[in-house]
Amino acid sequence: MSEPQRSILKLEGVSKTYGSGELSVTALENVTLSVNGGEIVAIMGPSGSGKTTLLTIAGALLRPTVGSVEVCGIDITKMGESKLAAIRRDKVGFVYQSFNLLAALTAVENVSLVIHKRASNGRTPPTDRALEWLDTLGLSHRANSLPKKMSDGEKQRVAIARALAKDADLILADEPTANLDSKRGHEVMQLLHQKAIELNKGVIVVSHDARIRQFASRILWLEDGTIREHE
Ligand SMILES: Nc1ncnc2c1ncn2[C@@H]1O[C@H](COP(=O)(O)OP(=O)(O)O)[C@@H](O)[C@H]1O
Ligand SMILES: [Mg+2]
Repeated sequence: MSEPQRSILKLEGVSKTYGSGELSVTALENVTLSVNGGEIVAIMGPSGSGKTTLLTIAGALLRPTVGSVEVCGIDITKMGESKLAAIRRDKVGFVYQSFNLLAALTAVENVSLVIHKRASNGRTPPTDRALEWLDTLGLSHRANSLPKKMSDGEKQRVAIARALAKDADLILADEPTANLDSKRGHEVMQLLHQKAIELNKGVIVVSHDARIRQFASRILWLEDGTIREHE
């Protein structure tokens, strides 16, 4: 708790236009946003308001048309593709609406895949670390299950275990509760909230579900690509 605030993400004056000429679509317009360690920021807004575009830019998967992006104090705006790939690998964990688990791999294999030897403290093998994460998320009994044998709530928890196991400072979740019933959705949000605080991560959760409000440190409302602080 006494740790100084650390900057995990800064977007400044970010705009994104897809395409050009008459067919161009401006998905984001002059978005400024920062996320510190221990914060869980909820981004809400209607379909088409630019939420996924914002997350994709924050996660170094897409470049803004205008503006700057900083991840963990590193300005990535003009970074070349191979360095960007390293930022994505080392700093960012994604949680998707559709889980994105590899179907042929078990839960523990899905999680251990992202653990670099470097991040595993040298000693503990990736598989053991993956098992610890699954245990933390209450999924020990599912370690050797394939995704098709798991419920949607379990799959989403494996996806969160994977994002946390990577030891990424920035966790980006795009509609992580959209495929879950309200009880499971509640659990998943509580977990993201708790881990953000415990591990001093920066978390952005995008959703159009008003129930995520209670877990957020801050709520931002996105409308037609423009962001507004919300209470
Ligand atoms: N790859 C793309 N090419 C062209 N237009 C896109 C692309 N991705 C998104 N858009 C457009 O940008 C706007 C914002 O989309 P998106 O970021 O997906 O919003 P949300 O996630 O809030 O639904 C929408 O008008 C959408 O049609
Ligand atoms: Mg979206």
